[in-house]
Parts: sequence; structure tokens; C-alpha cells
Amino acid sequence: LAAAVLVTVTSACGLTGGTPISTVGEVEFERPLAVPPLAPSRVDADGVRVFSLTAQQGESEFEEGVRTTTWGFSGAHLGPTLRASRGERVRVEVTNELEETTTVHWHGMHLPAAMDGGPHQPIAPGGTWAPEWVIDQPAATLWYHPHPHGETEEHVARGLAGAFLLDDRDASALPLPREYGVDDVPVIVQDVRFDGDGEFERGQGDFVGPLGDRLLVNGTLGPFLDVTTESVRLRLVNASPARVYDFAFADDRSFDQIATDGGLLAAPHRTDHVRLSPGERAEIVVRVGPGERVVLRSRPPELGGTVPFGGSNGGGDSFDVLELRAADALRPSPAVPTSLVALEDIPDLDRPSAERRFTLDSTQINGQNMDMARIDEVVTLDTTEIWHVRNDMAMPHNFHVHDVQFRVLSVGGEVPPPELNGWKDTVYLPPQVEFRLGLRFEDYADPASPYMIHCHLLRHEDTGMMAQFVVVEKGQKPAMMIGENDEH
Ligand code: C2O
Ligand code: CU
Repeated sequence: LAAAVLVTVTSACGLTGGTPISTVGEVEFERPLAVPPLAPSRVDADGVRVFSLTAQQGESEFEEGVRTTTWGFSGAHLGPTLRASRGERVRVEVTNELEETTTVHWHGMHLPAAMDGGPHQPIAPGGTWAPEWVIDQPAATLWYHPHPHGETEEHVARGLAGAFLLDDRDASALPLPREYGVDDVPVIVQDVRFDGDGEFERGQGDFVGPLGDRLLVNGTLGPFLDVTTESVRLRLVNASPARVYDFAFADDRSFDQIATDGGLLAAPHRTDHVRLSPGERAEIVVRVGPGERVVLRSRPPELGGTVPFGGSNGGGDSFDVLELRAADALRPSPAVPTSLVALEDIPDLDRPSAERRFTLDSTQINGQNMDMARIDEVVTLDTTEIWHVRNDMAMPHNFHVHDVQFRVLSVGGEVPPPELNGWKDTVYLPPQVEFRLGLRFEDYADPASPYMIHCHLLRHEDTGMMAQFVVVEKGQKPAMMIGENDEH
């Protein structure tokens, strides 16, 4: 039902026109997929695993002989993959060598608000910031990126993004592909556009923000991946400013989706496509035969995809993303287990402490633009809440919550589809459909440091489609001005 509504609404709202972008069949796949290096770390005398990251400007040669000015963490473009296990205390020493203020946000991470890296933790040019926290959440594919208020799109689109992988004992005990860069590979997708000099060009784009006509996958244009095992696990990260992808294989083969944003599903979801809006992740396991070549693609609705828009053309865009090239002899891989992890239930869903409504309209949430000095919601520690989230526009948005992984309880009053039946921190919001989310707030209260709630279409976020909440101990008052919207 939702999909049918979307297509109608989108084509009726004036976004059609222009020729759909399609790179299907045109990408040469002539470059090996870059695999972001695992970030080195040391364990200090107190047992803290310490990483360091430097935000810096550099030059990248995406195409031979063409130089593009890019930003990266500890390199010219993107950043290394951070990796840590549940129970570990970590510290990331971030240095800002850019000429402007940035921040680093750990997207999907449960951690104290002062370590969150949102707009309230700026790192001045030449400055450093060293957040420290204990990893205490299930194994997952998280990511990190800047979050300076009003500048997030620019910083991310220039290349500041990286994967942050979490491990835990339950996930590591499963017979899933886990050899990093061999059969377990991050796939960080960003759409870009180049100007005549080979520089990134973002332009105005339309209401959704900038939409590119070429894809960088881990910073590689036209990538192939040599596969040497029967199964490969792809950790898909939509790090694009605005584009929604509907990933599928060119031959429509099915695969197992094993994880959502915040961790493994209870059981693999057998499917032939996975839709990701900006900020969302999915882990999939796909099987290949000896000598096979198969293309991962983002397909438009008319090919069976469910992406209601891809930009100014109203949704016809399609991209060839990555070619898997299987060797003639493949190492055997075990089948994906029929059950994965025990998904913990959120307690007290039947008697939530609060229910809140968030309506997304224009570039506002509940009729207001983000104000750094205003707290919009005050949440009490150790409580469960139900949030009713609705996109009131004819345009799609999505909804991201810092600090917690939530569960989708219903979509338009219906049971959520299997791909939403796991831990999520970002959810795609088709127009006019109410999502009910269950959230549990634990461990960290800080009346003086807010977390963010926002649309992850970065231009929307930058123009104020963002709100702030604090988590406080029972009876505690926030140390900032409270907005009128906090009444429920
Ligand atoms: Cu990925 Cu508030 O961000
Ligand atoms: Cu939006």
C-alpha cells in the first residue's frame, strides 16, 4: 500500500521532468574496490583502546589523471574503519587539520551526549577532541561523520565519512563471513557529480538536496570486487547526502539481509532488494558461483524497486554499483544460519512513560527549525517511550535518533515488514504514513548536553529539520531553555 501511495504522490508533486540518470550497463568496473583500512589502535595502561583520526584536506584521483580536492579522515578521502568489541572502553583522539570547525558524530552509537559529536562538540581548526566511552550494544555496522550545524552536507559530501564496526560474542560465534576485506566488506556509497575540472560539484540540487550522477563506492568509481569465497557479506552504508538506493542484483538473485542499522536480525530476511535512505545501513550475504560476475545495482521503481524518488526526475534513476567477480575456484562458505541472534524486547512497551509526536513538514519538525539553544524534548532516564513519527509532506524524508537504537512497532498501523524488524537508528519515512517507534533510554543522563533527532537528508538537517532532546534523571531539570513543544 505504502509503495503505491508514494509513486502517485511523487509523480503528482511536480518533481518529474528531466531524463532519469542511468548508469546501468555503462559502468566499466575497471578499478578494484578500495577497502578502507582498519584503523590502527593501541590499548593504553588503563585498558582503553585508543584510535586517532585527523580530519584533513587532500587530493584524490578517482579517475586517472584527474585530481579532485577531497576531505578525509587520516587520508585524502573517507576514513579508516574503526572496529571495537562490546565491553571495550574506547577513546578516539580527533584532530582537526581543516581550515574550518567540524565535529565527528558516531552514528548509531549508544554513548553519553557529551561524547556524541553532534553540533555541541565543535572541534576548531587546529583543535583536538578525545571522546571516551564504553561500547555497550550489539555487534553492528555503524558509521562516523561530521555534524557541524548547517555544514554537515558539505563536510560529508567532501568525503568525511567512515565505518565503525562493532563486534560481540554472539555475533562472532555465528558462521557468517567475517574476514575483513575478503568476504566481509564495507560498501560505502556516495553519489557525486564532477565539474569540468574534476572537482566535486554539489550545486543547488532540488528540494531533496544534491544528487550526483556517478557513484563512489568506498571512494572507487566503477569498482569490482574479486570474490574468493562462495558467500560474501556486504555491509552497505548509504553515506549520500540525499539519495535513496534500492540495492538489488542485476540478475535479481536473492540474498540474505542479516542486519539492520543497529545489529543482526533474529533471522535472515531472504529478499532480492534492500532500500536504504541516507544514513541507513544493511548487511547482506550473497552467494556466487565459480567464475560468475554479478552486478550490484540500485534500481528504479519501474524495475521493481520501491524507491519513490531519485531526484528531479521523480524516481527513474538507476546505477550500477559494484561488480562481484568470483574466482574459478571458491573457498566453501557455510550457509547462513536460519536463526541469528535473540533480539531483545524493549521493556514496558505496553506502558510507556511518554508518547511523543514528531511531524516533519517543510524543513521543520513540529513546526520549528532547530535552535541550538532550545531543548525540544526532555526524556527521563530508564524509561520507555513511544514516538509517533509522520512525514506530512508529499516528499520523502527520513528520521534519525541519536543515542538509541529503536524498534519500529508499526507502519501505517500495520506490522512492520521484515527488513524493519530489527534495531534501527534511521528510518525512511514515505509521505503521510505514521510510524510508531519504541525507544528505551538507559545509562546516560546529562541535563546539559542534548542529543539530536533529525532528517538525515543532509540539506534538510542543515536547514533545521532537527530537534534536540536531553535525557535527565527523574526529577532533574535540563540545564538549557525548554521549548514549548515539550508537552505531552
Ligand atoms: Cu548520521 Cu545526526 O547523524
Ligand atoms: Cu528530509
